[in-house]
Amino acid sequence: MDDASTGSNHTQPANPVQGGKRGAQVVSIDCLRQLKERKRLVLELRAPRERILVLWSRRGPYAVESHCPHRLLPLDDAEISGGELTCRAHGWSFSLETGECTNPPSRGAALRRYPVWVADGLLCLDRM
Ligand code: FES
Repeated sequence: MDDASTGSNHTQPANPVQGGKRGAQVVSIDCLRQLKERKRLVLELRAPRERILVLWSRRGPYAVESHCPHRLLPLDDAEISGGELTCRAHGWSFSLETGECTNPPSRGAALRRYPVWVADGLLCLDRM
């Protein structure tokens, strides 16, 4: 089943697989080599449709929604520095660890984060 694809600048991942614990909706994607080389990938998931920015750091992967909560513009090319993601449109920043908006100080805005990990050479992401 073709459940996931990377953004238009990336090649189609092989072997997307769904499964996992009860209540979870885990997608496993064979894109780890690409992610480590490029440091970021945009995943286009279907049913439900989601656009997810996956980042690779020394601590491992992070996955966040790729739409800024400010005006819902894409975060595909967001600046990443010091554990924060900054939207290029108007400069709002978000913690990659918590998703909280750090600049301007939180008004309740936050990025949706997805649990993400590596298992058996695949990138695994829980969509719950
Ligand atoms: S759309 Fe991201 S800061 Fe405005």
